[in-house]
Amino acid sequence: MEKTEDIDFSVDIEDRVKRADNHVIIGLDSVVHYFTFQHGVILKDSLTRLATKLMDGRKPRFKVAFITNLSWAISSQTLEVQKVINETKTLLHEEFSDEDGDSQNISSLLTTSKRTDSNPIIVIALFAYKAKSDEIEVIGAGLGTFKNKVGGYVAYLATKEDVYSKSKYGKSADTESFLGRGIAKFVLSMFQFVTYWRSYKSCKHIFLHCNKDKVPLFQHYGFVEADMTDKKQWPSSVKTLHASVGISNSDVRLFDHHAMTIDVAIHGSLDKTIRLSLSASSQPSAPPGGPSKKSTKAAMIMDREITADRRIPRMRNEKTSTAVAAALAMLSAQASASVG
Ligand SMILES: CC(C)(COP(=O)(O)OP(=O)(O)OC[C@H]1O[C@@H](n2cnc3c(N)ncnc32)[C@H](O)[C@@H]1OP(=O)(O)O)[C@@H](O)C(=O)NCCC(=O)NCCS
Repeated sequence: MEKTEDIDFSVDIEDRVKRADNHVIIGLDSVVHYFTFQHGVILKDSLTRLATKLMDGRKPRFKVAFITNLSWAISSQTLEVQKVINETKTLLHEEFSDEDGDSQNISSLLTTSKRTDSNPIIVIALFAYKAKSDEIEVIGAGLGTFKNKVGGYVAYLATKEDVYSKSKYGKSADTESFLGRGIAKFVLSMFQFVTYWRSYKSCKHIFLHCNKDKVPLFQHYGFVEADMTDKKQWPSSVKTLHASVGISNSDVRLFDHHAMTIDVAIHGSLDKTIRLSLSASSQPSAPPGGPSKKSTKAAMIMDREITADRRIPRMRNEKTSTAVAAALAMLSAQASASVG
């Protein structure tokens, strides 16, 4: 069976993101595997299921783009990242109206390669390859910036209002909506991981503004409302940060946007919590000092217990897996995934 870098389970995403010139694109299967085992991230089954979908050549249908410096990525010659940037623009234009001047700001942020400010613009995009062409579609995206020792600021966050359809994605598509699978929360948390790593672990805070009707949604993710007049809760450096991505103080006041912030992990734990060793065919990274003698096929060695964040209350019917169960399901699905 052909093994591509995209379905390499041993990929160390922290290392790849830290070393990236301007972007890294990784199959969703590797991303789910890495964050489940290394950071105790627990995703809904409806999201991890997308990670098992393969195309011809057993390449992942769903991928995640971690754009660590948009201005540089815009000038990149890589076709795949160009498509991601264009399709992120399409998604954000669909989901944000022009009333607040958002369309123009989104276009400007996603097309201007020359920027005068020093804060890098970050984009996290979950995207999928369509079945009958080389075209992609961005399903979920977050766009924002960060500054060392200040934090990350999310200017735009959206999930595509559409279903995972067989006509677009082939016979193995589940025909369910992309909404409500935890995609926005996943994108937000990837944004936080990237700002944390790229700021030499000096940024845990994520700040954002939203309409009043979205306050409960972000509270559901663990955010709290901040008083923008209190410099302890909303420092002047945050105002400079959001101004750098075209969100001005006067607009915030004009549209009565609410300020929200979080300073703990949105998903799982920001630092690595467990290390896994598998002697199965997935060729995992060996623990320091070489592979354990005790490891047998599909046996797991956990150095520490999962310390998944338990602050966020779960809905009663939420279909989540435990970290280990989800990843094991991924592994077995990987072995039997149907191409489509
Ligand atoms: C808002 C939006 C990003 C959500 O995307 P999504 O991928 O469906 O979101 P998720 O699946 O991660 O989260 C939905 C969760 O929030 C919960 N939720 C949604 N609205 C809520 C509310 N008003 N109060 C409490 N919880 C709410 C849902 O019940 C669901 O909870 P669950 O995960 O426990 O089942 C998407 O609808 C969108 O793109 N909207 C347009 C753009 C926008 O408004 N962006 C946000 C402001 S920048």
